[in-house]
Amino acid sequence: MKPINVALLGIGTVGTGTFAVLERNQDEIARRAGRPIHIAVVADKDIERAKEITRGACRVTGDAFAVVADPKIDIVIELIGGCKVARELVLAAIEHGKHVVTANKALLAMHGNEIFAAAQRKNVMVAFEAAVAGGIPIIKALREGLTANRIEWIAGIINGTTNFILSEMRDKALSFDTALRQAQRLGYAEADPTFDVEGIDAAHKLTIMSAIAFGIPMQFERCHIEGITRLQAEDIRYAESLGYRIKLLGITRRRAEGVELRVHPTLIPARRLIANVEGAMNAVLVKGDAVGATLYYGKGAGAEPTASAVIADLVDVTRMHTADRAHRVPHLAFQPDAVVNIPVLPMSEVETSYYLRLRVEDRPGVLADVTRILADQMISIEAMIQREPAEGEEQTDIIMLTHRTREKNMDAAIARIEALPVVKGKAVRLRMEELG
Ligand code: HSE
Repeated sequence: MKPINVALLGIGTVGTGTFAVLERNQDEIARRAGRPIHIAVVADKDIERAKEITRGACRVTGDAFAVVADPKIDIVIELIGGCKVARELVLAAIEHGKHVVTANKALLAMHGNEIFAAAQRKNVMVAFEAAVAGGIPIIKALREGLTANRIEWIAGIINGTTNFILSEMRDKALSFDTALRQAQRLGYAEADPTFDVEGIDAAHKLTIMSAIAFGIPMQFERCHIEGITRLQAEDIRYAESLGYRIKLLGITRRRAEGVELRVHPTLIPARRLIANVEGAMNAVLVKGDAVGATLYYGKGAGAEPTASAVIADLVDVTRMHTADRAHRVPHLAFQPDAVVNIPVLPMSEVETSYYLRLRVEDRPGVLADVTRILADQMISIEAMIQREPAEGEEQTDIIMLTHRTREKNMDAAIARIEALPVVKGKAVRLRMEELG
């Protein structure tokens, strides 16, 4: 059978993995797809390196814009990354009637609405399994496997770099800075780790999952994003002694008033499976009304795990290539005219439980003052520990876990607590989820 012709834009880590896996498993993949999948051309700025990797198996060029206009190409794989040139190339490919496979989460989170609208107009597919949680088929699960369900919430460890750093901080009692340097030495963190440690990469992925879980447009600009840079080793220790682990979670939840969309360090019970996902691994917990909680686990990055997702998309597109539009799975899981603009709730309206750590003077009445303020805001305390002060020490730490409340109530309580003369410095506030 005639092969389907693919253009690969960008042959970096994932591109190299895609090339290698397609070559290694070509017979198995063709049996599944119904015809061979052939990379006909690779476009990359570094032509010499691209030639070394492809070893004469396909054409190599530096002109990606010519490639996306080439009438012989059926599918374009975009693995360039970034939002500027990648956006122009993806839109140009769509304009020329090509199907697109991309691993670019930033591009979809920020420009997905424009890209999917263009794809809809031109009757082409844009597939993006590799954009979220690398090799884990979470997009497939949300778009196809769970379509019977009203999805209630998703909570995911969707950034391996930060999960590795948090595991190191907990296991070896390291500070954030030391654990980050360790991650950089081992190649888990980039020289500039901002996107990962500030939670931006996780927010891109969460935005995409939220859109396909709830049938809403991409709303990255409304995502609350808090990374792990300010997390202190002592809070990891205190959380542990209360039976919790701290993970950087992306959480999206449907409520009657709107959708919660937030990335932040979160305490979760240590007995949950997801709390035990360690190192650079990813995991996504999805709660559907019919199925209950389902958990997806695997490698969220790396050449071949991500290539696994890219090639799964290639197979899907190849199978559906000649089918009419009505037979395709809609890009955002819901039919385009059924996507609804449910608002993303401001952080002040988010409902969650809290961990609070206060540095206080160790004398009578302090706890009474703090608990009175919490009671005034209708915040109920679930557990509390007080560190025993060292000999001669006049200050100590109080750690409290609260029941669920609105973030605005907690903001108001913290402002009053921090104003108490017996409370020293800023309160440490972390959010907590039972994920039950
Ligand atoms: N940098 C990401 C991570 C992988 O650390 O999980 C690519 O999204």
